[in-house]
Amino acid sequence: MAAASVDLHVEFHLPTMLSEWALAPTFRVTVTMNNFIPVVVKVHHVPTPVPNWRKRSADGKFTASISRQTLRTSKQDDEELGSVGIRSADPSADAASGDLIARIRAGLIAGKAPEPIEDGEGGTYKLFGADGNIVAIFKPADEEPHSDANPKKHDDSPKRDGILPGECARREVAAYKLDHGLAGVPCTALVQLRHPRWGSALKVGSVQLWKADAESGADVGSSEFSVSEVQRMGALDVRLLNTDRHEGNLLVTRDEQGRASLTPIDHGFALPGSLSEAYFAWQHWAQAKKPFAPDVLAAIAAIDSTADAEVMRQMGFSDLEIRNMRASTLLLQRAAASGWTLHEIANFVTRPSLDKVSRLELLVADAKALAVSRGNFWEHYSRLVDEAVTRTAAPSA
Ligand SMILES: Nc1ncnc2c1ncn2[C@@H]1O[C@H](COP(=O)(O)OP(=O)(O)OP(=O)(O)O)[C@@H](O)[C@H]1O
Ligand SMILES: [Mg+2]
Repeated sequence: MAAASVDLHVEFHLPTMLSEWALAPTFRVTVTMNNFIPVVVKVHHVPTPVPNWRKRSADGKFTASISRQTLRTSKQDDEELGSVGIRSADPSADAASGDLIARIRAGLIAGKAPEPIEDGEGGTYKLFGADGNIVAIFKPADEEPHSDANPKKHDDSPKRDGILPGECARREVAAYKLDHGLAGVPCTALVQLRHPRWGSALKVGSVQLWKADAESGADVGSSEFSVSEVQRMGALDVRLLNTDRHEGNLLVTRDEQGRASLTPIDHGFALPGSLSEAYFAWQHWAQAKKPFAPDVLAAIAAIDSTADAEVMRQMGFSDLEIRNMRASTLLLQRAAASGWTLHEIANFVTRPSLDKVSRLELLVADAKALAVSRGNFWEHYSRLVDEAVTRTAAPSA
């Protein structure tokens, strides 16, 4: 069969937060055209500035995705950082992130080396403070599952629809920013880090505040968790369409009386470009079947998804990823206000089985189809959500 040839003109936009970075000389571009098989194009020379992760062409005919494996800074930036150092890679990071990075920097300068964590599917490291205590977990973007430098090479681990290798780090950071303290995602920041254990390479990744003396949620019975904490974590997971909320991705700490408290972690597989893989370990827990606690209900009503969408846009998320977050947040808010439980909302958002689409997927598809002939997507989606939460009985399975 003769190879088809197409001329592509791909325009890239510069995400604000990455503006001062230059690119390593090679990276991959995947172009998927309507009605064509996906084509992988290897680009060997890229002029700066840095391209965006994704871009839809003006006529809507194709989308391009970029998986960045390696990033490096300009010579001047390199000299500033030295052979051991860390700095923020996010101009809009908050003060808590600045404090966290300062504590890590003090540890690195005092000679405390990063230590690999054996668990998990990608490269993860403990970082220490100057006093030798663990301060943070570091997850480099180029060591994520299916990325080139992943030291664990678990390439049989499942890939998530709509999330490319190398994209988990900024999802970890976005989860912290979008949580606004509600579910207690520990402070998480995007950084550039250099240490001799990686030679002269500059690592880009997420650092997250270490929760000391924590047990894995997989080792604690769910009946120990409070209704409010489960519901707060659940509301976060629905908004983020988290595809990876298994019990190991929540930490449990205890107060002096032994009462358990929850901390959600590991949000690298949240905020997907696809609606198909949401997974919530808490979906059938007793706390999810109780009416929303008044404090949780008030917090859900106060979520500002327009502001959150802007945070995601500044971080370089695609229109599709932002739309998905807005769609699930709107559903959460309307359904919770109509008296649905978290369990019922999760039943609407997750697939009943792998090959059967969710009610949320159907509703989004209906709104998209209606918007083709008349009006805009949000007008239809909003009305369809209202109809679903008021006229239909809440889904029980
Ligand atoms: N903020 C934190 N505080 C304390 N411990 C943490 C924190 N983040 C991660 N850990 C520990 O490190 C382990 C690995 O972290 P994480 O789950 O984020 O990485 P992962 O490699 O993506 O894991 P997996 O692929 O197994 O889900 C966790 O199971 C937990 O024991
Ligand atoms: Mg994990």
